[in-house]
Amino acid sequence: MKMAKADKTNSGLIDWVFNNLGLVFSVLRWIKPTIVFKGQAFVTRFDDVSEVLERDWAFQVPYAEKMGKITNGSNFFLGMQNTEQYTRDVSNMRLAASREDIGEIIVPFVDNTCNEILSASNGKMDVVQALTRVVPTRLIGKYFGTPGWNETEFTDAATVMFQYLFYPDDAEVEKQALTVADKTRQYLDQAIAERKLNRNQYDDVLERCLKLQDAGMPGMDDQNIRNNLIGLIIGAIPTTSKCAATTLNYLFDQPELLVTAQQAARVDDDAAMVQYVLESLRLNPFSGGIQRICAEDYVVAKGTLRATKIPKGTKVLAATQSAMMDRRKVTEPSKFRLDRPSYIYMHFGYGLHTCFGQYINLAQIPGIVKSVLKQKGLRRVSDMKSVGPFPTNLEIEFDL
Ligand code: HEM
Repeated sequence: MKMAKADKTNSGLIDWVFNNLGLVFSVLRWIKPTIVFKGQAFVTRFDDVSEVLERDWAFQVPYAEKMGKITNGSNFFLGMQNTEQYTRDVSNMRLAASREDIGEIIVPFVDNTCNEILSASNGKMDVVQALTRVVPTRLIGKYFGTPGWNETEFTDAATVMFQYLFYPDDAEVEKQALTVADKTRQYLDQAIAERKLNRNQYDDVLERCLKLQDAGMPGMDDQNIRNNLIGLIIGAIPTTSKCAATTLNYLFDQPELLVTAQQAARVDDDAAMVQYVLESLRLNPFSGGIQRICAEDYVVAKGTLRATKIPKGTKVLAATQSAMMDRRKVTEPSKFRLDRPSYIYMHFGYGLHTCFGQYINLAQIPGIVKSVLKQKGLRRVSDMKSVGPFPTNLEIEFDL
């Protein structure tokens, strides 16, 4: 009985902490910047978060086991430590998805797709269901060559697999994720096989992977291609949707900012759009931080008064949300400012595993946000709703 009561108190405390992360982090940054509690460490200052994410040999990625279940016994490069295989796989995918594609393929595709969707609407839409979830899925269809078996189901599949990989264990989420992982693997096997019967018709990531396979590039057999694609699909869809919807919802909360952001959108000031997105997300982050496992006893911030030993085996949260609010690095951190240097933003991680899609993100998310902001008489009908970690609805209206 006593145990049950203690468990209940603990879980109540944990819920409270997760619902008040900003406050908890701001207190920790002052009184105990790195804290180790029951096998879990929280690292909260900008310099220390950077240190953890830079030391990839001491703070390792914890995702391999779940990646193994999603890929049916293999791994994907985000789940790998800094090994030859990691370098091989990332390098292959960088050849298949080059930065030139952003201006040539991604920006025009995102603009056209958003415009098509917005102009086909009757001035009233659920921006999450009709736009922020749809655009990244269609981009994956066009750019990767893998549109999925059904647009909505494919988006849902990526979302639940993401939740399984990066959020705390949940038996129901695991069951759903493993079911759709099986379906996604079968779909990708079929997409690869069909493309082999219909080569040189498209210039997309799948075609380029097969060209690397033709050239005998190691790490590019059909199963490797499938693993790479499944990891990229999971990383790309729910993240983009959440960031675009969160940015819009925040701007609706701030009428004066909304006006200036709309002015920037209407003159296609894309550099300003990027800043609106990065700064909105800094104040409303995608997540509290990035998980790692400590692989050796390690002292964070060694030689300073805040030096803290993290024992081998400790789970570590490198709290990027907190780092981006650290006034030692970020001037007036509670204020919305468009003149911040790009290095203070850690939305896309830092160090070895920095987001593969970071430059895509800086085009796609502002592109989606801009298309909505350009609408005349734009208004929010109801506040954003989420189920679990991901937005599900944000109703808007605009004049036709
Ligand atoms: C739009 C919002 C996005 C956010 C907020 C985001 C965030 C992140 C973060 C924080 C990491 C680091 C994870 C870690 O270190 O443990 C990461 C890694 C990664 N992301 Fe993204 N991501 C986004 C979009 C994308 C897109 C569009 C793609 C694919 C085109 C993508 C593919 C990846 C991959 C493959 C990695 C692993 C990189 C590596 O291991 O070297 N992400 N992402």
